[in-house]
Amino acid sequence: MIRVGIIGCGRIGQVHGLSVEKNRACTLHAVYDPGEANARAMAQRFGANVAVSPEALFAETAIDLVVIASPTDAHEAQFLAAARAGKAVFGEKPIDNNLARAYATVQTLRGIGTPVMLGFNRRYDRDHATLQAEVRAGAIGRVQSMQLASRGPNSVPSPQYLRSSGGFYRDKCVHFLDLIRWISGEEPLEVVAMGSVLADVSVGEAGDVDTAAIVVRMQSGALAHIDNARRAAYGYDDRIEVFGTQGVIESQRLRSGNVMRIRDNHVCLDGLPRNSFERYADSYAAALDAFVEKLQGKAVEVPGIEDGLMAQVMAEAATLSAAQSRIVRISEVLAKL
Ligand SMILES: NC(=O)c1ccc[n+]([C@@H]2O[C@H](COP(=O)([O-])OP(=O)(O)OC[C@H]3O[C@@H](n4cnc5c(N)ncnc54)[C@H](O)[C@@H]3O)[C@@H](O)[C@H]2O)c1
Repeated sequence: MIRVGIIGCGRIGQVHGLSVEKNRACTLHAVYDPGEANARAMAQRFGANVAVSPEALFAETAIDLVVIASPTDAHEAQFLAAARAGKAVFGEKPIDNNLARAYATVQTLRGIGTPVMLGFNRRYDRDHATLQAEVRAGAIGRVQSMQLASRGPNSVPSPQYLRSSGGFYRDKCVHFLDLIRWISGEEPLEVVAMGSVLADVSVGEAGDVDTAAIVVRMQSGALAHIDNARRAAYGYDDRIEVFGTQGVIESQRLRSGNVMRIRDNHVCLDGLPRNSFERYADSYAAALDAFVEKLQGKAVEVPGIEDGLMAQVMAEAATLSAAQSRIVRISEVLAKL
């Protein structure tokens, strides 16, 4: 049995608590959150202990795996402390919003050598995974272009969240930057990005954009276009299309139900999930399951620290491109590390 400790009992911490509960090879041993009420509520919900500090949780010999679900500014120290304590680490993205610090953290983690997985849960969506496997198997021939759209939910994050998020490219687009490397199996060459504030003025007041387009040229010349919006009035809408020399493959938008009504001259289908937690509910559990299988010695590929770092390098290039209205080569960002 793998005993788990969760650091951070907010939105994503609760999601990971559910994933641990669903996995028969795991048990939730302890949780920590500086908000005592959060920690107590989560411990009660999942039948776990409350750790009095992160250090106490890391020092708990019964714990094998630490899930880091704290705010981004706590990640770096907690990734390192958990790894130094000999724990396997399932950490939420990003490693750190400052790329130089994230790189230094990755270098230290490489030296420690403990298993680390980054929470790029979209890789574990059933349909996205089918698309990736078929593209990699050559089912559509040579990849020419990829379109990844993600819009929603029907609200924007609080100004406080936006100010500490590192910006749209680092916070949300980073998931799709990771997906294009994973789908194509290729590294990126150059990035161009543009952003606008069109849906909610509060996003602009917090110094961020709510609508963005990113184009990435991969090493083969294949072009990936990412179309991301913080808000969509109609729900949570994610889609991927990959176009190749032999055909096209799509992971289509997932609706919240599959009921169709026809009346008079109109067809009415169920709409979309309300947010990413509903849209990707199964993928969070599947991500943890994959890491547990890896820890059990199975040959399972999971997004590790190098993937986390590369996605951040691409997000950095996109942030720079949008700020300076120019194409940014990945080598330029890597040269600064
Ligand atoms: N992979 C995904 O789909 C996904 C989705 C949402 C959030 N995230 C990431 O997860 C992290 C947390 O986001 P969230 O939306 O759950 O935030 P949240 O604000 O809902 O929850 C954060 C929790 O951490 C607690 N906390 C504060 N300081 C802490 C510390 N030093 N140590 C431990 N806990 C601390 C807070 O009290 C709060 O309960 C962020 O880094 C975010 O980027 C990932």
